[in-house]
Amino acid sequence: MVSSTSESIPRVITLDGLSGSGKSTLARLLANQLGWAYLDSGAWYRALTWAALEREIDVKSAEMVLDLLFNINIDSKKDGAVLVDGAVLTKELRLPEIDIAVSSVADHLSVRGELNEQMRNILKQNDTNGVVADGRDVGSIVFPDSPLKVYVEVPLAERAKRRFAQHQSIGADVTFSDVMEALQSRDARDSQRGDAAPKAQPNSRLLDNQNNSVE
Ligand code: DC
Repeated sequence: MVSSTSESIPRVITLDGLSGSGKSTLARLLANQLGWAYLDSGAWYRALTWAALEREIDVKSAEMVLDLLFNINIDSKKDGAVLVDGAVLTKELRLPEIDIAVSSVADHLSVRGELNEQMRNILKQNDTNGVVADGRDVGSIVFPDSPLKVYVEVPLAERAKRRFAQHQSIGADVTFSDVMEALQSRDARDSQRGDAAPKAQPNSRLLDNQNNSVE
């Protein structure tokens, strides 16, 4: 329970939602404006997946992935950039092979539990004023005591339109229906993760982000 004294209320704002809902853009800007740390939880899953693929570890094995997680150090900087063993990872995390393998890593409950613990430590770091976190379950599982939980909603067709425009801007060779299909299959996979599936909590604020500008 969140206690009534301001000192014990965790300084955490969470934004959850499906892929392509714009939550990362919002979370990053909000953190920047508040002077808080940005925690991109999806990037942590991607970083662990990257480390597994680097070491040719079978991402379908919960035991092996968990063992890996205990043997590397994942951390993030105030701007959300994720490091593995001190090295910042950026473009590597967005490679198509990571897109494919990350769902298997995120399916392992034991791995999720440990990764969540590690992500919570960001809040305990001395130079952290507060954290704006985004993901699928940051309001429900990672920071259940967050006093401000936002669930970001955007219809599938609009999310696909945005993703397609992103792909076009970097010259990627994909069709609109490829993007639509990929989003649908990620939504389906995300929704099968029980308590960690993306959904609004009883105390979430709903943000209809279909027509808003970023500002
Ligand atoms: O948001 P993203 O595409 O970077 O997320 C990468 C993967 O991690 C995606 O398969 C969903 C998963 N994920 C998760 O299971 N829980 C989170 N809190 C964040 C991401």
